[in-house]
Amino acid sequence: MAKIPEHTVEQIKDSNDIVEVIGSYLPMKKKGANYWARCPFHNEKTASFSVSASKQIYHCFGCGVGGNVINFVMEYEKISFIEAVKQLAERANIQLEFEQMSPQEQSDTGKLRDIHVQAIDIFHAELFKPSGKKALDYLLERGLSEQTIKDFKLGYSPEPWEFLVKKLSARYDANLLMQSGLFVRSEKDGRLFDRFRERIMFPVYDDRGNAVGFGGRTMKDDKKEAKYLNSPETPIYNKRKILYGLNITKEPMRKEKKAMVVEGYMDFLQLYQHGYTNVVAGSGTAFTGDHGRLLRRFADEAILCYDSDTAGQKAAVKTGFTLSSQKLECKILQIPEGEDPDSFLQKEGVQAFHTQVTNALPFMEFLRAHYQPSKMSAKQKSDTITSLLDEIRAFADPVYREMFAREIAKLFSVEEQTLLNQLNKQKAYQTTSEPEVSTQEKPKQFKNQGEAAEYLLLQLLVNGSNLIRKAGLRFLSVKTFKHPFLKKVLAEIQAVLKNNVYINSEKIPENISDKKVKSFCYQIVMEQYDEENQKALFVDSLKQLELQMLKDDYNILTEKLRSVPSEEMVDIMKAQMKNMHARKHVNKIYNDSIFEDL
Ligand code: UTP
Ligand code: MN
Repeated sequence: MAKIPEHTVEQIKDSNDIVEVIGSYLPMKKKGANYWARCPFHNEKTASFSVSASKQIYHCFGCGVGGNVINFVMEYEKISFIEAVKQLAERANIQLEFEQMSPQEQSDTGKLRDIHVQAIDIFHAELFKPSGKKALDYLLERGLSEQTIKDFKLGYSPEPWEFLVKKLSARYDANLLMQSGLFVRSEKDGRLFDRFRERIMFPVYDDRGNAVGFGGRTMKDDKKEAKYLNSPETPIYNKRKILYGLNITKEPMRKEKKAMVVEGYMDFLQLYQHGYTNVVAGSGTAFTGDHGRLLRRFADEAILCYDSDTAGQKAAVKTGFTLSSQKLECKILQIPEGEDPDSFLQKEGVQAFHTQVTNALPFMEFLRAHYQPSKMSAKQKSDTITSLLDEIRAFADPVYREMFAREIAKLFSVEEQTLLNQLNKQKAYQTTSEPEVSTQEKPKQFKNQGEAAEYLLLQLLVNGSNLIRKAGLRFLSVKTFKHPFLKKVLAEIQAVLKNNVYINSEKIPENISDKKVKSFCYQIVMEQYDEENQKALFVDSLKQLELQMLKDDYNILTEKLRSVPSEEMVDIMKAQMKNMHARKHVNKIYNDSIFEDL
């Protein structure tokens, strides 16, 4: 596994506020010291998933999951530790010092990227050979400059079915080639042949510039053939998270804090070529929440430049909500009927386009123009409002949610309160809606006082002062604990504290590998405890356990008395006397003085 230095991991944790990160995935509500949400890891109606801003951890009182910000991203995105760390590093703009991968990982991810890098070069070179002339002419005719073609390494995949596979099969084994998504296997004889043939090739990179896939456009007008053929999802190509061109445009975007968002590769290239260097395009998929989060890292504002056709305008509504949910200020650029950004730029020129950029409609105004509420029937209005509220309900930030609901009320001239009520009522079971906070720390049910005392002591050991912890190391022992699981918890916590008694409470579970014990510790860290009376509580609980242990011993001795031969009875009675004596002394031993000399 790749090794990322401990201090870097810590830095990444420090730079990613857990409330912000989790808040970007789930709607949360603040109550008391913590934030609450419906748990994304199990099905529930009321919120028992809590996030602590001060401790930077989460814990679900329902299903027991818990951890820090890295654990959350791992669990939620179903990705490895390394991937989660990378993702959070990017979110916080932290450069990972190095990316060392094990030979195995290198051999997979690295080789898949290598395959792409080579394919890109091969296809690009092909464009400037006689076989690629047709393709090059096509691109030039569509108004792309040679510079743009070279900057984005556009290419051409020629006709032969085994053009690329022949060039790469000597170096990579067939399984890996299949994994790259660039080839298909013949059903007849199992041989590989090229997925992309006779297509203009648009290389797709992730935002860090790793080659991950291709979009391939046909040059034929033949309606039978798909206009674009795209790489499938592969270990290195997750379409939900990749925006075309971002690797090149992220820096200008970061400077301007603005992004232009287009639908197609050709739109992207035309905008870029005309000086809009802060542009991105979806790569053959709808704009996802992940795309929104990615863009949010570089921009505060997005201008959507979608096609003027119905599909394009519908997509603009959808994307507008997706971006708004990520708190990106969103505007929609209007383009005349029958045009897309690419054709408009070429026909009308950059000046005209720029006027459209300046006049781009704020999202709400766009919605007004798009829906024209004044012309709607009551039923149309009601249906539209319902669907818009469904979009807003997915917003993580309740303030944003309410702001948008108010705007929509204005737009359709209905009472704000009516909409707000509907917003909170409708589909209350949806996990995306605002959580109802009712369950939180459930009152604990202990079998007996001894168990309650053990629990309290563990709580103090984790959350209490350093003095309490030192006393806990000296005076608590697995022998005094009876509950088998709590025994195990005590042993694990003590082991961590022995190593570093000053460790932050929220770091304790991080150092425990047993899953059950770990999540139990997260729960303890999340809980409130009586800080003021911690010493007295510690002493009382300890005393109680000691007394209980002595009482139990006494009872065992009494049992023995019934069955032993008379000559042994004296010894047992002596032991009982000693036991009584010790019980009297418990009060003398366990008091505030135990905190001296620690
Ligand atoms: P467009 O049809 O608007 O493509 O689809 P375009 O980029 O403007 O291309 P031209 O101008 O017709 O040459 C927008 C995007 O949708 C995806 C591609 O990513 C395309 O860029 N798409 C489109 C596909 O994945 N498959 C298709 O069959 C069509
Ligand atoms: Mn187009």
